[in-house]
Amino acid sequence: MTDGAHPHIDPKTGKSTTGHEWDGIRELNTPLPRWWLWTFYACILWAFGYWLLYPAWPLVHGATQGLLGWHARSAVVEDLKQLQTLRAPSIDKLQAASLSDIEKTPDLLEIARAQGSALFANNCAPCHGAGGQGAKGYPNLNADRWLWGGTLKDIQATITHGARWDADPATHSSLMPSFGRDGILKPAEIRATANYVRSLSGLKTDPGADLALGRKTFADNCAPCHGSQGKGNKEMGAPNLTTRVWLYGNRLSDIVNRITVGGGGQMPAWGEKLTGEQIKALTVFVHSLGGGQ
Ligand code: HEC
Ligand code: HEC
Repeated sequence: MTDGAHPHIDPKTGKSTTGHEWDGIRELNTPLPRWWLWTFYACILWAFGYWLLYPAWPLVHGATQGLLGWHARSAVVEDLKQLQTLRAPSIDKLQAASLSDIEKTPDLLEIARAQGSALFANNCAPCHGAGGQGAKGYPNLNADRWLWGGTLKDIQATITHGARWDADPATHSSLMPSFGRDGILKPAEIRATANYVRSLSGLKTDPGADLALGRKTFADNCAPCHGSQGKGNKEMGAPNLTTRVWLYGNRLSDIVNRITVGGGGQMPAWGEKLTGEQIKALTVFVHSLGGGQ
């Protein structure tokens, strides 16, 4: 029931009602506050403006483009362009300078280290560890013990062409023979040689190990790559066996296993993936890790 044209006043609150009534319950007439209404209208206006200016309405293929021509992707491209213009001067400087000049010039060194460290974290850390400390089979780049040499030039070559990376014809390719698996040496000779190898870095040898046999086997089979003193040869990628740093471990069983299976680790070539400046930055960064020659 309604009260027709005459507003009904609620006796409890003294306010007028809308005139709607359900089972004797009447609705108080409480209009929306003015500030709220105006905000609401303003939002609607703003939305219309937005629809017109920015990409908004989904269509069958894509969406309305908006009058401003703004695009999420072009915004990112613009940001990247700005970043590149910011960086370009430092990249140009790396391009022009030689590796040793970069190391000798403090501000170039700083640029190279900063770039190298970011590139290292993204590309190299998964294998070589966050700090270049390496892991079994992945060389420690902080130690002054190199497979392929630790000069700036050596490091640049290894990063560019990798090791045993078939896709790159200039890759380091020498390989340690599988002396045990291919039957070149007998188990007793292998054991004796492994003991002799441990003695080269002052590690304990088996009681009763035949070091004389080990020395002779080493001279005949291993010296061509590892050197007569076992000090290694970077042309062959053969590590120095007289230091305390080991790629595959220095327990007798580790060394016996190496001599038995031989072979070598694989390092990807980065020459195709990274620019010359990026490789320069990485080279200087790796060289400055502490083990550079
Ligand atoms: C997929 C794993 C892997 C990745 C990724 C990788 N490396 Fe290597 N790296 C190796 C292995 C394995 C070796 C050892 C190769 C060998 O046994 O001869 C190596 C060797 C090296 C050497 C030579 C060390 C020496 O003793 O002569 C340098 C320098 C090097 N890596 C730098 C880098 C840099 C810089 C990057 C990143 C751009 C990188 N590596 C990425 C696996 C990797
Ligand atoms: C054709 C060259 C060549 C000959 C010959 C050779 N090696 Fe090697 N050796 C290598 C190379 C290359 C590596 C490094 C493997 C790698 O990078 O993964 C290596 C690695 C090793 C290692 C592992 C060192 C570590 O840090 O863990 C040992 C041990 C070793 N050789 C012992 C020997 C002994 C003993 C002989 C002789 C019986 C021998 N090698 C003969 C090339 C050679």
